[in-house]
Amino acid sequence: MQIARTVAEYRALRAASLAARPGLVGVVPTMGYLHEGHQSLMRRARAECGTVVTTIFVNPTQFGPNEDFSRYPRDEARDLAICEAEGVDIVFAPSVEEMYPGGAETTVSVGSLSRILEGAARPGHFDGVATVVTKLFAIAQADRGYFGQKDAQQLMVLRRLAEDLRFPIEVVGCPIIREADGLALSSRNVYLSPEERTQALSLSRGLRGAEALWAEGVRDADALRHRVRHEIEAEPLANIDYVSLADQRTLEELAGPVTAPALLSLAVRFGATRLIDNILIAP
Ligand code: PAF
Repeated sequence: MQIARTVAEYRALRAASLAARPGLVGVVPTMGYLHEGHQSLMRRARAECGTVVTTIFVNPTQFGPNEDFSRYPRDEARDLAICEAEGVDIVFAPSVEEMYPGGAETTVSVGSLSRILEGAARPGHFDGVATVVTKLFAIAQADRGYFGQKDAQQLMVLRRLAEDLRFPIEVVGCPIIREADGLALSSRNVYLSPEERTQALSLSRGLRGAEALWAEGVRDADALRHRVRHEIEAEPLANIDYVSLADQRTLEELAGPVTAPALLSLAVRFGATRLIDNILIAP
């Protein structure tokens, strides 16, 4: 495994890797502090591509002024060991200066999809994500980019970005990985106190509860949202940002009976820690 700190180093390593292992290049963009969720993306990339690239970059432009950029968990030595064990060929781990030479003058924005749900709760977040992923796509020159379904709206924004900007890359969405007790894996889970972690299980419990209602034939959007809220509101440390049941293509909030594929998603705060989770519902 080789590590590139600059774009020039990356380009040389990519060319050498392609010469040694002709085939697809797969990129797994991350902000580090890697967990099984990231590893599942690397494994998928490893199974499908000749060259696997992981990027590790805590992107300052996707954090709001009161968010956790400076305290976002970082452990590069551990991340590199994980990448090595997963058979990654190249790690691109640039500095902020390398990614934003002269500051963040040029930005990318993906329109209305970026301004609802997560975008409404975190203004500017998706512009930061879209800007850095545009840069990473341009630098990595990969055939496939692997992203987790846990950030469902991010995945939609990035699919739209790749399509609109005509990037020759396939954006591949991969399933959410959960702890045995149902908690969706996230680098931010380390912030949770034991009590918050126990109460955070209400997120997946609520989603599963709605899924069970759906299986019983309940189709009313409010009833399904209410099932999730009810579970989470029972936990005193949980503060709901939103519980949404929205059209899977447009993210428009649904009312009445659900007749099209839908995304049931939520964001909940435990103290300063904000967790998201979701499931897909298909008639
Ligand atoms: O999902 C993430 O870890 C980040 O938003 C991403 C896609 C690596 C961009 O910084």
